[in-house]
Amino acid sequence: MIDLCIKNCKISAENDLCSINIEQGKIIDITKIPLKAEKTIDAKGNLVLPGLIDVHVHFRDPGLTYKEDFKSGSESAANGGFTTILDMPNTIPPTNTVKNFQEKLKIASKKSIIDFGLHAGVSDLKEIEKITNLNPASFKIFMDTVNSSFLNEAFKAISELQKVENTDINKENNTKKPVITIHAENKDIVNHCTDQIKSKEENNPSDYALARPSVAEEVAVAQAIALANHYQTKIHFCHISTDKSLKMIKSSKSFLNNISSEITPQHLFLDSSSFKKFGNLTKTNPPLREYSEKISWENLSKIDLIGTDHAPHSIEEKKKGVWDSSPGIPNLEVVLKLLLTKYHAKKISLDSIKRLLCENPAKIFNLKNKGFIKIGMDADLVIIDLKREGIINSEEFYSKAHYTPFEGMTYNGAPIMTICRGKLVMENNDMYQNQGIHVYP
Ligand code: DOR
Ligand code: ZN
Ligand code: ZN
Repeated sequence: MIDLCIKNCKISAENDLCSINIEQGKIIDITKIPLKAEKTIDAKGNLVLPGLIDVHVHFRDPGLTYKEDFKSGSESAANGGFTTILDMPNTIPPTNTVKNFQEKLKIASKKSIIDFGLHAGVSDLKEIEKITNLNPASFKIFMDTVNSSFLNEAFKAISELQKVENTDINKENNTKKPVITIHAENKDIVNHCTDQIKSKEENNPSDYALARPSVAEEVAVAQAIALANHYQTKIHFCHISTDKSLKMIKSSKSFLNNISSEITPQHLFLDSSSFKKFGNLTKTNPPLREYSEKISWENLSKIDLIGTDHAPHSIEEKKKGVWDSSPGIPNLEVVLKLLLTKYHAKKISLDSIKRLLCENPAKIFNLKNKGFIKIGMDADLVIIDLKREGIINSEEFYSKAHYTPFEGMTYNGAPIMTICRGKLVMENNDMYQNQGIHVYP
């Protein structure tokens, strides 16, 4: 008798329905006929994908828990079909010392209902070697907050680190260089342009995009590529917003093996015309771009992964005007619904959704047991009703942030069950208790 059998699963367009058999949180077999189990879930012929992985969330815990915390954030993730998240370091205190990293690990281990990893911040370069021993998902550098000399030193220091892997299967391969995760906006250009635009007599929400122009991102992308090449580091670009940035990253793949790009739902679905409709609600860093500059659906095949950049703030903070309102959008509970709707509109395939939200996140961030429905993998799964229709309603979010620029949009297709290491955590928007674990022990 096994622990759990999920029968009548559609795991790919080509295959017949199958049963996913689970023991101690792992997939032990995929069979035609369901195995005898203590608990059986009937997927009723619905699509089953690997649990989604979001490599870019801001759960605000500790320090800013009025915006979000590990409980509300992880529930929001589970409601969106996610089973693993990697949390960003810009909390209070920031996750840039061993002490703060350990403190956040404790909080997440207590509160997260899905699995998690933590990105580490980079400030005191003496700390990074010690943090490396705790296996951060990456070292995150916000280029809009640091100058070039620090950036150079940080790349150099990180290039000299070796990260111990959470496996002893392959001894030759059990140390790895940490990934550098980049927020690419050039600080000097952003500061200069912000001062210029702010000095205008009157400002409106779309001015924010001029204050942080495309060229600020493109200069930062070029600089980071050069540094990654010089120091031979792995590099992942968060929230790429322009087609030119994407072209640079794509072409540098000819000489850099470990370079990857991410797009957020807002940079994929929206453009700067949204400022008119939604005002500062769509304020985000980097800002939304002109339609002619943004990454098109046709170029999505060149992107490595979708990160939601789930960045919740209180509604009061979002309403403080062009300059004082907080940048960021909560996305965990809308992204899959939006993509499934685009699948019906023939803009994206289910295989691409799997590549962008399951397989590539697992490969790029070295999540050994995640991202694939295969024997031996963690039983992280999302069951999807491709026919479920509804209207995006932020009042129903588990996130503490109850707003979205996608409010009122009709969707077609939604996650109906989320299963994390064999435990049902979400069913039809209801949450079950579960204990998430650190994915880089
Ligand atoms: O829009 C953003 N919000 N961009 C960032 O880089 C940070 C994030 C946040 O933490 O709110
Ligand atoms: Zn960022
Ligand atoms: Zn972010």
